[in-house]
Amino acid sequence: MKSKTIVAVFMLMVFWGQQGLSDRIVDMESEPANLESNKHCFSCHGERFYTFENEFSGSIERKAMNPNFIYNPDEFYQGVHRHFSCTDCHSPDYETFPHNAELRLDMMFSCMDCHGGDDTYAQYNFDLIQDEFYKSVHADRHFETFDCWSCHDPHSYRLMTRDNFRTAEIVSYHNQTCTECHQNPDKYQLVMDGEMPLLEDIHSFLPNYNLHFNAVRCIECHTSPQDTMWVAHNILPKEMAVKNCVECHSTNTLLMSSLYRYQAVENRSERGFFNAIILNDAYVIGANRNQFLNIASLVILGMVLLAMIGHIILRIIK
Ligand code: HEC
Ligand code: HEC
Ligand code: HEC
Ligand code: HEC
Ligand code: HEC
Ligand code: HEC
Ligand code: HEC
Repeated sequence: MKSKTIVAVFMLMVFWGQQGLSDRIVDMESEPANLESNKHCFSCHGERFYTFENEFSGSIERKAMNPNFIYNPDEFYQGVHRHFSCTDCHSPDYETFPHNAELRLDMMFSCMDCHGGDDTYAQYNFDLIQDEFYKSVHADRHFETFDCWSCHDPHSYRLMTRDNFRTAEIVSYHNQTCTECHQNPDKYQLVMDGEMPLLEDIHSFLPNYNLHFNAVRCIECHTSPQDTMWVAHNILPKEMAVKNCVECHSTNTLLMSSLYRYQAVENRSERGFFNAIILNDAYVIGANRNQFLNIASLVILGMVLLAMIGHIILRIIK
C-alpha cells in the first residue's frame, strides 16, 4: 500500500512538472502589438509585386519582389515573435526605400543576444540547446553559413510541441524545418557548394518512405533524445542514425522517449496495450502489442506444457 502511495505522489509530481513545461510566455491571443506599423514593410515584403514612386521621373514603378524576401503576415503573427516590429530586429533605416545598400552589412541578432542567461526563458534551456547545436553536424562542418536562423525562420518560427497540436501536426512542422532545406537545392547550396542527395534515395532502406515520414520525425533517427531537453538539437553524423527497425518496432520503442513524450503524460489511457498513446495516431508493429493477448498466449503455452507432461506421465505409467 505504502509503495503505491509513493508511486502515486511521484506520478503527480511528474504530471505537474510536465504541465509547467507548457507555460507560454508570449501572449498568443491578443492583437499583435505592431500590426499597424508593420503594414508598411508588408506592403512590399508580403506581396509578389511592389510599387514605389520614382523620385527622378515622378512616375509610379511596379516591380517583382525577390521571392526569398516575401513573408506571409499570417505566419509571422502565429510565431513566437508575433508582437515584434520588423525594426526591432532590422535597422529603422529600412523605413526608407530604396534601402541604403550598406544596411545589408548590419550584424543580425542571434537568439542568444536576447535569450542567453535570461531566467525568464529558463524552461527553454537555451544554453544547453546552444551547446548541443555546436556539436551537431551542421554547426561542426558549416559554422560560417549555418546558425539557429537556418532552422528557426525569423519570420515564422512557432512553438508546436508545447501547444496542443496533434502528433501528426508536430511531425509535419518539424520535418518541414528539415525538408525546406534538404529538398530545396537553392537553400541547401546556400550552406555549402555540393550536390544535394535525394532523401528518398538515402532512406530507401525503409519499406514505406512516405508512411514513415508522415509518422515519425527526422530527429527521431538523427539525434539521441535527452531528458532535460524538450527538443533534441544535436544532429549526429549519418553513421550514427537509427537504422534498426526494432528501435521503434518493439515494446520499449524509442518513440515513447521522443515523439510521444509530449503526450505521454496528458493522454495516459492504458487500454491494455503497450505504449497505448501511440495508437491515437498510428499502429506500430511490435510496439503496440496487446498485454492481454500476451498473457493469454502465456496461459495457453502453460496449458499445452501441462497437457504434454500429463501425457508423458500417463505413457510412463502405462
Ligand atoms: C517599397 C517597397 C519596400 C518597402 C516599403 C520595404 N522594403 Fe525592404 N526591400 C524591398 C526590396 C525591393 C528589397 C530588395 C533589395 C533592394 O532592392 O534593396 C528589399 C530588401 C530588404 C532587406 C534585405 C536587404 C539585403 O539585401 O540583405 C531587408 C532586411 C528589408 N528589405 C527590410 C525591410 C523592412 C524592415 C521594411 C519596413 C520597415 C521594409 N524592408 C520596407 C522593398 C521594400
Ligand atoms: C526576431 C527578429 C526579426 C524580426 C521580428 C524580423 N526579422 Fe527579418 N530577419 C531577421 C534575421 C535574423 C534575418 C537574417 C536571416 C538569415 O540569416 O537567415 C532576417 C532577414 C530578413 C530579410 C532578408 C532576407 C535575406 O535572406 O537576406 C528581409 C527582407 C526581412 N528580414 C524582412 C523583415 C520584415 C519585413 C519583417 C517584419 C514583418 C522582419 N524581417 C522581421 C530577423 C527578424
Ligand atoms: C531581438 C531579440 C530576440 C531575438 C534575436 C530572439 N528572440 Fe525569442 N523572444 C524575444 C522576446 C522579447 C520574447 C518575448 C516576446 C513576448 O512576450 O511577446 C521572445 C520569445 C521567445 C520564445 C518564447 C515563446 C513563448 O511563448 O514562451 C521562444 C521559444 C523564443 N523567443 C525563441 C527564440 C529563438 C529560437 C531565437 C533565435 C532563432 C530567438 N528567440 C531570437 C526576443 C528575441
Ligand atoms: C536543425 C534545425 C535546428 C537548428 C539548427 C536549431 N533549432 Fe531550435 N528547434 C528546432 C525545431 C524543429 C524545434 C521545435 C519547435 C517546436 O515544435 O516547438 C526547435 C525548438 C527550439 C526551442 C524550443 C524548445 C522547447 O523546449 O520548446 C528553442 C529554445 C530553440 N529551438 C533554440 C535554438 C537555438 C538557440 C539554436 C541555435 C543555437 C537552435 N534552436 C538551432 C530546430 C532547430
Ligand atoms: C527511420 C529512421 C530515419 C528517419 C525517420 C530519417 N532518417 Fe535520415 N538517415 C537514416 C539513416 C539510417 C541514414 C544513413 C543511411 C546510410 O548511410 O545508408 C540516414 C541518412 C541521412 C542523410 C545523409 C545523406 C548522405 O548520405 O549524405 C541525411 C541528409 C538525412 N538522413 C536526412 C534526413 C531528413 C531530412 C529526415 C526527415 C525528413 C530523415 N533523414 C529521416 C535514418 C532516418
Ligand atoms: C539550411 C539548410 C539545412 C537545414 C534547415 C537542415 N540541414 Fe541537414 N544538412 C544541410 C547540409 C548542407 C548538409 C551537408 C553537410 C555536409 O555534408 O557537409 C546537411 C547534413 C545533414 C545530415 C548528414 C550528416 C552526415 O553525416 O553526412 C543529416 C543527418 C542532416 N543534415 C539532418 C538534418 C535534420 C534532421 C534537419 C532538421 C532538424 C536538418 N538536417 C536541417 C543543410 C540543412
Ligand atoms: C523511428 C521509428 C521507426 C523506425 C526506425 C522504423 N519504423 Fe516502421 N513504422 C514506424 C511507425 C511510427 C509506423 C506506423 C505508421 C502509421 O501507422 O501511420 C511504422 C510502420 C511500419 C510498417 C507498416 C506499414 C503499413 O502499411 O502499415 C512497416 C511494414 C514498417 N514500419 C517496417 C519497418 C522496417 C522494415 C524498418 C527498418 C528498416 C522500420 N519500419 C523502421 C516507425 C519506425
